[in-house]
Amino acid sequence: MVDMEPTKTIQIKRRHSSHEDAVGTLTIDDPRLDGYRPDPAIVQQYVSRKMPNGMTDIEYCMAVWRGDETLGCPARENLMFVGDTQGGKTMLVNVLACKIGEEMGLGVPVPVFTLSASNGITDFDLFGQDKPWTNPETGTDHIVWLPGLADMAARVGGILYIDEANMMPERVTSSLHPLCDYRRMFVNRNKAVKVPGDGFVADVVQANPDLWIVGTMNPNYRGAGPLNEAFSERFRWLLWDYDQAVETKLIPNDAVRTLGTALRQLRELGKIRTPTGTATLMRMVRDVHRDGVDMALYVLRSKFTADERPYVDEVIESRSFKVLIANAAEHRHPLSGSGEHVMDEESPF
Ligand SMILES: Nc1ncnc2c1ncn2[C@@H]1O[C@H](COP(=O)(O)OP(=O)(O)OP(=O)(O)O)[C@@H](O)[C@H]1O
Ligand SMILES: [Mg+2]
Repeated sequence: MVDMEPTKTIQIKRRHSSHEDAVGTLTIDDPRLDGYRPDPAIVQQYVSRKMPNGMTDIEYCMAVWRGDETLGCPARENLMFVGDTQGGKTMLVNVLACKIGEEMGLGVPVPVFTLSASNGITDFDLFGQDKPWTNPETGTDHIVWLPGLADMAARVGGILYIDEANMMPERVTSSLHPLCDYRRMFVNRNKAVKVPGDGFVADVVQANPDLWIVGTMNPNYRGAGPLNEAFSERFRWLLWDYDQAVETKLIPNDAVRTLGTALRQLRELGKIRTPTGTATLMRMVRDVHRDGVDMALYVLRSKFTADERPYVDEVIESRSFKVLIANAAEHRHPLSGSGEHVMDEESPF
């Protein structure tokens, strides 16, 4: 049986909505949002990079989050990180959620409402929709209002995280325009609100001042195009290439790092398409220690396509990477394994 009586599963604080909803609230520190919060342990695992102005990435991003009235810099200016795969962009967004939670004195990270653009998002994901729900206690079916992620973020605050932003269809980015620019609002055309007298209007939502919109994108993502110009103009852009100083800390085996540089150069030359991210090289160092060099190289090679593998093998063999990596792992070579000395990364061939 479908009971068409609307039932609200999650009631949202709507102090910023033009139409006050008297029932229930959902605040930024509400335990019901704990599923959207990152694990604060991530902060300890994160290795910061230095920005060109001498600040760490966290210091700089937090300064953007705070804004600076004297300079006319708006608080919570939208940020877009652009860089190749597995370079720490998503991790940084989660670290920032922890730092903001600390700065706001919440005792928990702020929620990160993630829109995964590569999953084919629609306006329903952004703005909500009616969904069937079965009450487990009574077995009765209801139609309930399931809020959209942009809607929740706009009302509650925290981070609205647009992952793989360049995979978003244009009609979706344009739906986000008013929320992303100075208007900081949107008209939720999926949601009817009763107005006094006869009739209904679409819900108008003014964003909570604690909403921060952060995007990440990978320019080389297969199937992605450039970001729509009007949408991209609404963001401060930060290029997030692989960072040598960060990788020196995360990948203590110098020979593995040099192999990474060689593989990235092969990609820049157009010989291979598969990227070699920071995470792949970190995994390789762990593999070398646990399983030995042969197994680690086997796992690394498995990542590449059959037509790429001859190029990869040539690099590995011509530079004797097997020996270099083993030596570095055993600290036998004076120029490797210390994490301090870097072999000639400029000419890895
Ligand atoms: N600065 C860093 N500090 C610690 N770990 C890092 C850092 N950068 C990358 N890593 C490692 O790389 C992994 C992948 O990072 P992350 O998912 O944030 O990359 P990404 O840039 O979002 O990649 P993609 O574009 O594929 O989504 C992390 O889980 C972590 O293990
Ligand atoms: Mg990511």
